[in-house]
Amino acid sequence: MIDPEGRELLISVGAAVFTLRVALRRAGYDTVEELWPEPGDPTLAARVNLTRVVPVDAPTVALAAAIPYRHTNRWPFAQVSVSADMLGQLRDAARREGAVLIAIAPAGRDTVLDLAWGADRWLRDQPEYRRELDRYTDSRLRHDGVPVWAAGPCDALEVVPVRDFAAASPLHRHAEPFEPYPAIMVLATGYDAPIDWLRAGQALQRVLLTATWLGLATMPISQPVEVPAVRKALATRVAGLFPQIVLRVGYGRSQMAGGSPRRSLSEVLMKTG
Ligand SMILES: Cc1cc2nc3c(=O)[nH]c(=O)nc-3n(C[C@H](O)[C@H](O)[C@H](O)COP(=O)(O)O)c2cc1C
Repeated sequence: MIDPEGRELLISVGAAVFTLRVALRRAGYDTVEELWPEPGDPTLAARVNLTRVVPVDAPTVALAAAIPYRHTNRWPFAQVSVSADMLGQLRDAARREGAVLIAIAPAGRDTVLDLAWGADRWLRDQPEYRRELDRYTDSRLRHDGVPVWAAGPCDALEVVPVRDFAAASPLHRHAEPFEPYPAIMVLATGYDAPIDWLRAGQALQRVLLTATWLGLATMPISQPVEVPAVRKALATRVAGLFPQIVLRVGYGRSQMAGGSPRRSLSEVLMKTG
């Protein structure tokens, strides 16, 4: 029920495609990507072609270095604001991949967070939502997804709507005060077709890797884009564009973040032909 159209699924595929592009570029190859390259095969979302050998540039080195360190941080961030220059670098990262990243001004932050809380409450009231999250987190069923140690606490101040990935766990999430004025950004696109979701995913990954390189922690907040009426209301905060994902950025305690497992290469690479 969380992602009936497969929008977030394709955002995730887009993020993986961007990671692949960076890794190939880091290995010294120029790449050209084709989205939905085979009209008869809707399961082939993207093809990344190697074109020629090229020298590796500094931005590629930085993005590639960030790949192993990028993780979602669901813990409190320091009460330190993110500089305008850094927010500008994140905006630029999204723009390069054809998306728009909007930093929500302090005056609009409460509205966006209220929308996120409203969506979070609505989702939690749906029994199927709970079951779906459990399938994504139960370590007896899977070795990927969000393990309990990556779920983080809940916000004692009730400012940051951290998704409750730990509800399936017998251990209760504890409450901790989060930063009272989180930096909130919304990644949006001009259209809302599957191809835009793939592009949004590539933009998302470029933003997250850039943030990681800059020493910033990140946490996606998707609840407000998962409830259609709330997504519509959120669109009015981003000039009528289509909001694809909300991000919280800041300075985290790195030892707290992530630890979510990675699939092995043999699970994601297949030999063909
Ligand atoms: C499209 C998309 C939506 C996501 N939404 C949320 C969210 O609402 N809350 C959250 O805590 N994490 C969210 N995430 C983060 C994923 O849960 C996380 O990336 C994944 O579990 C892998 O963990 P890692 O980021 O630490 O590598 C989202 C990720 C993607 C790609």
